Amino acid sequence: MARPYQPSLLRLLHGGTALLVLGCWLSGLFVYSRYDGRWGRLPFAPAGDWIDIHGLIGVGLLVLALPFAAYAFSLGRARLRRATNSLTLVALALAMGSGKLMEEDWLREGQLHHAVYGLHLLGWLLIGLAVLVHIGGSLRLGGWPLLSSMASPALKKGDLPGDWPAQVGRFLGRSR
Ligand code: HEM
Repeated sequence: MARPYQPSLLRLLHGGTALLVLGCWLSGLFVYSRYDGRWGRLPFAPAGDWIDIHGLIGVGLLVLALPFAAYAFSLGRARLRRATNSLTLVALALAMGSGKLMEEDWLREGQLHHAVYGLHLLGWLLIGLAVLVHIGGSLRLGGWPLLSSMASPALKKGDLPGDWPAQVGRFLGRSR
C-alpha cells in the first residue's frame, strides 16, 4: 500500500498532542507511585518534583490539545466517525478536564479521597488504553504506511505552514 499523505497542520497538532500525552502519562505514573501507591509502586522512583513537572506538561498539553480538538471537529471531522479516533479524544477530555479541577497540594498532603482525583486516575487509565486501541485500529485500517504517514516530515506544495490559513478559510467557506 502506498503511504497516504496527512495534512501538515494535522501532523503538527496530532504529533505534539501525542508527545505531551506521553509526557503527562509517564510523569503521572511517577506522581502516583511517589504520593499514592495504593495499588502498588514502581520499583524505582526517579528524582524530581514530579507534581510540578506533571502540571507543567499538562499546561502545554492544554495549549496544543485545544487547537487539535478544533481541527478534529472541523477539517478532520470525517475521521471522527471512526470510534478509535473519537474515543481517544473523549479519554483525553476526561483526563484533562479532571486534571484542571485537581489542586496540586492534595497529594502532597495525602488527601487521596477527592472524587475528582479518582476521576483523574480513571482518565489516566482510559487514555492509556484508548491510545493502545487507537494505534491498533490505525494499524488494522492502514498498516505501517498509515501509522508512519502521521509522523512523516514530508511536505507537499500547497500544504506548507503558509497555506494553513487558506485551508481553514476554505473549510469555513464550505460549511457556511
Ligand atoms: C496520544 C493521544 C492521541 C490522540 C488524542 C489522538 C487522536 C486522534 C484523532 C482525533 C485522530 C483523527 C484526526 C482527524 O480528525 O483528522 C487521529 C488520527 C490518527 N492517529 Fe492519533 N491520537 C493520539 C495518539 C496517536 C499515536 C501515539 C499514534 C501512532 C503511534 C496515532 C496514530 C494515528 C493515525 C495513524 C491516525 C489516522 C487514522 C485515520 O486515518 O483515521 N495517534 N488521532
